[in-house]
Amino acid sequence: MKMLSSLKFILTILSIVVLLSNLCQAQDVHHKKKPSFRPSFPSDFLFGAGSSAFQIEGDFHEGGGGTGVWEDRIDRNKARFVDGDKFDTMIEHYKRYKEDVQHLKYLGVNSYRMSISWSRILPDGTLKGGINKEGINFYNNLINELLANGIEPLVTILHFDYPLAIQQNIGGFLNHTIVKYYKDYCELLFKTYGDRVKHWTTTNEAQIVAIYTYMHGYDNDNAEPCQDLRICSQAYTVLHNFLICHATATHLYRQKFQETQRGEIGLVISSQSFVPYSSKAEDVAAAQRLMVFWLGWILEPLFYGDYPQIMRNLVGNRLPNFTEKEKCMIKGSADFIAINYYSSQFARYESNRFKIGGFDNFDALATSEEFNVEGKSIGQKDQYSGRYVYPKGLYDVLMFIKEKYQNPNIYITENGTPSNNPNPLEDEHRIDYIAAHINATKAAIDNGVNVRGYFVWAAFDTFEFAAGYSGHWGLYHVDFNNSLKRIPKASAKWYRNFLTSNCGH
Ligand SMILES: *[C@@H]1O[C@H](CO)[C@@H](O)[C@H](O)[C@H]1NC(C)=O
Ligand SMILES: *[C@@H]1O[C@H](CO)[C@@H](O)[C@H](O)[C@H]1NC(C)=O
Ligand SMILES: *[C@@H]1O[C@H](CO)[C@@H](O)[C@H](O)[C@H]1NC(C)=O
Ligand SMILES: *[C@@H]1O[C@H](CO)[C@@H](O)[C@H](O)[C@H]1NC(C)=O
Repeated sequence: MKMLSSLKFILTILSIVVLLSNLCQAQDVHHKKKPSFRPSFPSDFLFGAGSSAFQIEGDFHEGGGGTGVWEDRIDRNKARFVDGDKFDTMIEHYKRYKEDVQHLKYLGVNSYRMSISWSRILPDGTLKGGINKEGINFYNNLINELLANGIEPLVTILHFDYPLAIQQNIGGFLNHTIVKYYKDYCELLFKTYGDRVKHWTTTNEAQIVAIYTYMHGYDNDNAEPCQDLRICSQAYTVLHNFLICHATATHLYRQKFQETQRGEIGLVISSQSFVPYSSKAEDVAAAQRLMVFWLGWILEPLFYGDYPQIMRNLVGNRLPNFTEKEKCMIKGSADFIAINYYSSQFARYESNRFKIGGFDNFDALATSEEFNVEGKSIGQKDQYSGRYVYPKGLYDVLMFIKEKYQNPNIYITENGTPSNNPNPLEDEHRIDYIAAHINATKAAIDNGVNVRGYFVWAAFDTFEFAAGYSGHWGLYHVDFNNSLKRIPKASAKWYRNFLTSNCGH
């Protein structure tokens, strides 16, 4: 099975190579080894770049915006955050959105992934607390500016940051009551922007919030004391409520808006592929189990109405139950799946939960590993991210979703790599990274996966939580020593060539 699909993968790549060398040989001067086949993607395929409100906007209180949970976390732990002092301005996207749309236009993208700040629109998270008109106007202006420049917005409704009042008053995603507030917020967005926004995603990477913040307690001042025994339950409650929020929003959109607005709605999950640490049956099973614990945790309820049986067995009573009504509502509640993909790891069986740490789920009886039993890494190490470049993992995730989950439409909403090198404008390694992952995307499409779009993370340098701006994730460099000037990196120029010239140069 595995052998067969890798063989297919190689054959597909080979056929792309042949196709391309025929198509583009004559003009292929500068980027000999890079793919140049934009024309071979469907014409309505979305090629874009992404960002999130919190990571670029700044001026969060301008015109009456409220406080979000991340502002609060940073305020209380400034020393632990690189660039914590840049929080107030970020890259000033709030002020400079018009200029930024021109930068996006230069890239030649037909779509931009953005998110909306809940606390900018509803300062205390609730309708009762009042709507901030200036916040509403900001996103109206941004969306109009994008459309006027031929760029479709793909909007994430909740990208990690939500109103602090929701956290303080009800305990955030630990409390089922959040569904009501989230639903009101979504309804306001559909009503206000749905005439122009045709691609909605409800939530971003719920698994990361659950595992990182609630199971391991990172950036959580109030973590449940589960580290000693490594028996945690909040992570499961949080993800459960994320799923119900998602399904409730989709249900609302389908009932009241979709018919007239004619958009689509899905959710964004974090993805990676797990490769067995050795050929031992227990490691092979561990790799499969981690795929289920990571992807199946969300996708099984979405497509089949309940959590995977293996999670029920291993997590027991700490895994919440859905009511019959919730099961019906969740099953089939996505028009598409959006995945964020960066890298993959090996998976090794581990029966002792005290030896499981890092970002791994204590209940999965497996650890993720950098090296396999032979001491080999999964791909070349990226010197800036410290992660391993493994485009085949993206292909494998896409095939996994196609085969297990009814071949849904898929967007790749994040894919990219940092560049904290001395000259951030020279990012050849990013070009190689993006090119290789677009190759893998194309191979998956050729094997029948319904990939509908690909977005580089990120359009501009973004504030990456504890790492601040140090990773320089953008296609555009933002110069903090020179009035936050935006400067296209080599990768921006490459992406532009790929998207705008027939043969992609
Ligand atoms: C959930 O929020 C409600 C208020 O809406 C509150 O009464 C209740 O105590 C909260 N539950 C938990 C578990 O925090
Ligand atoms: C879920 O339902 C099962 C079967 O009815 C029950 O045994 C289990 O205790 C329930 N779990 C929770 C967390 O309520
Ligand atoms: C991508 O594919 C093209 C042609 O299909 C090939 O020439 C190139 O080496 C590949 N690039 C990377 C970075 O994998
Ligand atoms: C800004 O300039 C200072 C001093 O010249 C330098 O140390 C720093 O690395 C520069 N920062 C950026 C983001 O370029």
